[in-house]
Amino acid sequence: RVAKKQQQQTLQSTVQAACDFYRQQLPLHKHAMAYLQQRGLSPEIIAHYGIGYAPDGWQPLAQVFQPYPSMPLMESGMVLENENGRQYDRFRHRIMFPIRGVGGEVIGFGGRVLDDSKPKYLNSPDTPLFDKGKNLYGLHEARQTIKDVGRIVVVEGYMDVVALAQFGVGYAVAALGTATTAEHIKLLFRQTDSVYFCFDGDEAGRKAAWRALENALPQLKDDKSLYFLFLPEQHDPDSFVRQFGKMRFEEALLYESKPLSVYFWDALTANLDLNWQEGKAELVKSATPFLNQISQAPALAYLLKQELSHKTGIDPSNLAHLMGQA
Ligand code: CTP
Ligand code: MN
Ligand code: MN
Ligand code: MN
Ligand code: MN
Repeated sequence: RVAKKQQQQTLQSTVQAACDFYRQQLPLHKHAMAYLQQRGLSPEIIAHYGIGYAPDGWQPLAQVFQPYPSMPLMESGMVLENENGRQYDRFRHRIMFPIRGVGGEVIGFGGRVLDDSKPKYLNSPDTPLFDKGKNLYGLHEARQTIKDVGRIVVVEGYMDVVALAQFGVGYAVAALGTATTAEHIKLLFRQTDSVYFCFDGDEAGRKAAWRALENALPQLKDDKSLYFLFLPEQHDPDSFVRQFGKMRFEEALLYESKPLSVYFWDALTANLDLNWQEGKAELVKSATPFLNQISQAPALAYLLKQELSHKTGIDPSNLAHLMGQA
């Protein structure tokens, strides 16, 4: 255990040193500064999120780390090795977003290209420091605002978090290129009682919303609320707040988002005709496994089952019997 703690500290100081280096490099590279400016980010927001730039070349980090490579550079995912045994930096010629753990320490990075090349984003791999399923981008930076306003909005991307903050919505966080996990939901509910999901207005965003709902069901509590805001097609939170502003975004968030209970039925009944008995039967079958997972929010589970009874005309006791067998 002592060895593990020591390894973590070594990895931590390594990624911290890399973060410092990327931040120093940013003002030295006019094209990187111009890119951030063109995306509308101010020096204050760039500093608040610690955004930096990884220079071009195969081994930019060799400027800081001697000898290069080292074990901590490899183990923290900053340096890779090709088939010929040659080592090179994972992040080259990319805008760098440091990802912080719950204590505010840097644990990994997301890196964006400055043009249309692929892949658009690269992320640190999971390491002894960094677990994508357990951390949220921007949580540390948002913590004070979350306390002040009493809500969190979960978005898809780094740029969404940073652009929202730029426009005065300082309580956004993002899952790190993965689906929202049960661990994420627990972490979110530890911060606040009201969590809003606002993903991109495309098919991927809608899929991500449903995945978030699925993973949230076992974590729901009767004193916590989840909401889902669906943006117009073609928009993500970044483009939306840029075009319509903070007031319109928050208006949409507060008044046009669907609480989980509404989104749940809308999604499950979207392709069903409840005028037919077949449609009602299918709804019982599809809703049952979800409803049976809501073990920590008994009142909400009861109310949703009552609603299912109402939608199908099956009385509650028969419904309970059917759901037990499903
Ligand atoms: N993502 C990723 N790897 C990719 C593409 C996306 O990890 N190759 C993750 C990133 O966290 C990204 C998020 O998924 O921020 C959302 O992807 P997308 O909507 O494509 O990017 P945006 O965040 O909108 O980025 P931008 O506005 O800079 O194009
Ligand atoms: Mn997208
Ligand atoms: Mn509470
Ligand atoms: Mn997007
Ligand atoms: Mn975007």
